[in-house]
Parts: sequence; C-alpha cells; structure tokens
Amino acid sequence: MRGFLIGFIFAVIVILGGTYYLLKQGYVDFNADHEPSHTEMHLAMAAVDASTDRNAPQVKNPLTANEDTLVAGAKLFMDHCASCHGLPSSPDTQFGKSFNPPVPQFFKEAPDMAENQNFYIIQHGIRWSGMPAWSGTLNDTQTWQLVTFLSNTEKLPPAAQKELEPPASATAAAPPPAATKR
Ligand code: HEC
Repeated sequence: MRGFLIGFIFAVIVILGGTYYLLKQGYVDFNADHEPSHTEMHLAMAAVDASTDRNAPQVKNPLTANEDTLVAGAKLFMDHCASCHGLPSSPDTQFGKSFNPPVPQFFKEAPDMAENQNFYIIQHGIRWSGMPAWSGTLNDTQTWQLVTFLSNTEKLPPAAQKELEPPASATAAAPPPAATKR
C-alpha cells in the first residue's frame, strides 16, 4: 500500500511538472488559426459551461418582450455586438471564423441558453475568448434588453428588424477614396 501511494504521488508530480514545463517552454501553441486539440476544446468548453451554470445568478428577466424592449435591444446589438455576432443581412462575420473559439453567429443559430446565463455572460464576458465583459459599458436594463433581443431573434417585430439594417452608405458601392499624399 505504501509503495502504491509513493508511486501515485510520484506520478502526479511528474504529470503536473511535465505539463508545467511544456507550458513554460512554449510547447503549447495559442494560434487562433490552428484547431485546438479535442481534449483542449472539450475541457475548455465544458469548463466554461459548468462555470456559467454554477455562477449565473438565478434571476428572472424583469422585462417583457414588447416592441420597445426589442427595438432598444436591437439598437444596442447593432452598436456593440453585430460586428462579431452578425446581422440578418450578413449572418457570417469576418470575426466569426477568425476567432478561436469561433464567435457564435446568432442569425444562423439563435442563442439557446437560459436568459439568466446570457445576462451573466454579457455582463462578465468569457476570458481567453473574444467575448468582452460589458458590465462597465452597459447597465442592467440595457443588458436585459439585449438578453430579451437574443431570445427573440427569430420573431422580431418590423421596427426592431429595421434597426438591424446596415446604413445605406455601407451597402452602396462607395467610390474609392481619392488618393491623398502628404
Ligand atoms: C470582439 C467580438 C465580440 C463582441 C464585440 C461581442 N462578442 Fe459575444 N462572443 C464572442 C465570442 C468569441 C464568443 C464565444 C466565446 C466562447 O465560445 O467561449 C461570444 C459569446 C457570446 C455569448 C454566449 C453564446 C453561447 O451560446 O455560448 C453571448 C450571449 C454573447 N456573446 C453576447 C454578446 C453581446 C450581447 C454582445 C454585445 C453587447 C457581444 N456578445 C459582443 C465575441 C464577441
């Protein structure tokens, strides 16, 4: 029994020490254009999900999904989120593919998490991904407006859909800027 215990402790030290060495010496690559290993992806995603499950407070969305709320949510989404998470007219963003983990494209796949979890993620962001924490930028009401918007991406009233249209100047073929040289 004693021999087994010593062997076990030794093995744990070798594994931890080996992992620490590989990380410290730069043997693990962090390139966003490389697929992470299966283990890394599975572990990291499961850990983020479990942490969200554990930490998201059990609060109920105080807002109703009426036109005012959805229009306000759409405006906020357009200003802060669309460049990464996409729009109905351009559901695939450049960032969607070039980030790793990839940015969920909400107009291809509606976000299906519980509202208290989306509230928590929007407030706190997800470290080591591109998802920023918005608690310093948006207040609770604005965050709930976004949460309500995300729960209703597939049934937005026309007024909210209108907020998501790219400005006319962005779609018109703009002439190339005149060359300026100083
Ligand atoms: C710079 C890019 C970027 C911006 C801007 C951004 N996000 Fe994200 N967001 C991400 C990435 C990347 C993830 C995925 C993280 C992961 O998988 O761990 C994510 C994940 C999420 C999730 C979790 C989705 C899920 O199903 O797991 C929600 C909700 C979310 N974002 C909402 C928002 C909202 C609302 C805004 C605007 C206030 C916003 N994001 C702005 C990059 C961004």
